[in-house]
Amino acid sequence: MMPDRSDTSERDRPARLALERLLPRLRRQTGGQADAAWLALAGRLDAHFPLLFGLLEQLYGDHPDFSEHLESILLTVVRLALARPPELRALDAAREARPDWFQSNQMVGGVCYADLFAGGLRGVRDKIPYFKELGLTYLHLMPPFLCPAGNSDGGYAVSSYRQVNPALGTVDDLAALATDLRHNGLSLVLDFVFNHTSDEHEWAKRARAGDPAYREFYRVFPDRAQPDAFEKTLREIFPDEHPGAFTYVPEMQGWVWTTFHRFQWDLNYSNPAVFNAMAEELLRLANLGVEVLRLDAVAFIWKKLGTACENLPEAHLLIQAFNALTRIAAPALLFKSEAIVHPDEVVKYIGADECQLSYNPLLMALLWNSLATRKVRLLAQALRLRFQIPPDCAWVNYVRVHDDIGWTFSDEDAARLGVKGYDHRQFLNQFYTGRFPGSFAAGLPFQENPKTGDSRISGTCASLAGLETAIRDSSAAEIDLAIRRILLIHSVILSVGGIPLIYLGDEIGTLNDYSYRGDPAKANDSRWVHRPAMRWERAACRHDPSSLEGRIYAGLRRLIALRQQHPVFTAGSLQVLDTGSDHVLAYHCARGGERLIVAANFSEQPQVVGGQYLWPALAGAPAVDLLTGQLHAAPQDLPLAPYEFVWLTPA
Ligand code: GLC
Ligand code: GLC
Repeated sequence: MMPDRSDTSERDRPARLALERLLPRLRRQTGGQADAAWLALAGRLDAHFPLLFGLLEQLYGDHPDFSEHLESILLTVVRLALARPPELRALDAAREARPDWFQSNQMVGGVCYADLFAGGLRGVRDKIPYFKELGLTYLHLMPPFLCPAGNSDGGYAVSSYRQVNPALGTVDDLAALATDLRHNGLSLVLDFVFNHTSDEHEWAKRARAGDPAYREFYRVFPDRAQPDAFEKTLREIFPDEHPGAFTYVPEMQGWVWTTFHRFQWDLNYSNPAVFNAMAEELLRLANLGVEVLRLDAVAFIWKKLGTACENLPEAHLLIQAFNALTRIAAPALLFKSEAIVHPDEVVKYIGADECQLSYNPLLMALLWNSLATRKVRLLAQALRLRFQIPPDCAWVNYVRVHDDIGWTFSDEDAARLGVKGYDHRQFLNQFYTGRFPGSFAAGLPFQENPKTGDSRISGTCASLAGLETAIRDSSAAEIDLAIRRILLIHSVILSVGGIPLIYLGDEIGTLNDYSYRGDPAKANDSRWVHRPAMRWERAACRHDPSSLEGRIYAGLRRLIALRQQHPVFTAGSLQVLDTGSDHVLAYHCARGGERLIVAANFSEQPQVVGGQYLWPALAGAPAVDLLTGQLHAAPQDLPLAPYEFVWLTPA
């Protein structure tokens, strides 16, 4: 439906009036510029301010000082927009001209810790040739900011968004890295850890010292009344670390909301000053040259008594408000949502006006589920029902990241296939901790909660896929199967559409590293088992086809190269095909006039897909497997070796 112009302008009137009133003042406060930068900014304000205004009004309109807050937020936006370096303004223009740039088949992501991967930010810079060799166009670095010594939740307890952890380098190194990556065709992705700060952040220190304005930056309660009331409906996220969601801070004589660790204090977004302060941090990161911000722990940013305090409507308004101000001040920047929650909730964060990108935790969990069960029913169902998102957005598809695997499939979806969610999760946890008889996997439980029976899984891709057990048993046949599993699940994330993301180290089959148990800052967090330092002496074997590293690397490198050679891997439509087999996943992709059929056998038994299932999707045309060059023609059946997959295109 066409928007009714008179309606829109009526609705936007308060925003336009506010802007008219504020603009001259903002212009004076920012030096009275009237150059091209100011004009471009004025155009963007005209286009996006009404939306920002509307969102802020919904969030903070009841606040007695709403107009003052609005003015300071706008000042922040204008100031940082004008401070944006020329190269990034050029990037803004380029991205606005080609907003679908991230849908390209060229896109391939990698993720790592700067220190563990390369000893620091300069080390990462030196690895640019490695990234390019692998085919990466997107590099996510785990939070490199100042954080507490010892346990900092892997950097997710940020003590300053403006200072880099000195062990990794400096802010200048970070900006230089962003630029060098860009000049080499890679976008830098960093976290916006905005649900909480560390308890060593300046704001937390001031709160602890008794400054009431900063106490209001966090959610602090003088006694247990409110915390007890909230906890009735809260999920425990890190029960190993502390029960419930609050931590008593004696200096403040109060209970501080701490969803994750005791040293991670949740910010109080019901306070507009917090929104303003974090908007400033966000835009400063953008101006450093970050091209994608991973919005960390999005589900938790708004709290309301009597709810689970996850995925509340205001959480969406907040992100949309951050998005709107980004469109004004740093339009090249994209948001990626980290919502590791029920699939119904995951999709709600996805939208051009909210997060253009989102992790796909469901696909990830169901790939592992299919390896464990050798069945693809849940996976196929998820691709049918839950894969489609707006065409101007993209999934980030992955098999492992730095976090645990949570079995976040929907119980209702599972029930439709006769699977009981709770029992099945128990099975998966047993399987991936190697406790289930015959399991190939070597993983560890993460945050086992005896109260709920809940648990998640830690482990590297290779160890979970069976390589560790196979090496231990010196079984060449099992090693071969493990490598096939690794390549199989990567073949899906590389072909299904969206941005594939590789946890660096997985390309050479890095195994679990149990040495974290000797480090008191890490021993209580099993996720460290899958965050080992990069073994460069192993990576050096990657071109040796007789080495394990070489077999995995060559396989993966080839899949990436094929993806990047064929435009059919650009995001487009996806249709799941019946295969007549519970073990074989197949889908058909049509993109820009090209077609691709993927068929993948998730079992260690050979399978045959009847020709009647495949050929209609290719209109009966003969097809070639991009991987082997082998020709297939209608009405032939398609045989698949153990864990084999094919990428068929019309010959
Ligand atoms: C995110 C991170 C995770 C961290 C948590 C708290 O989920 O991925 O590593 O523990 O946020 O910041
Ligand atoms: C929970 C959170 C998720 C976080 C993870 C860390 O699953 O929902 O955001 O990444 O914990 O382990």
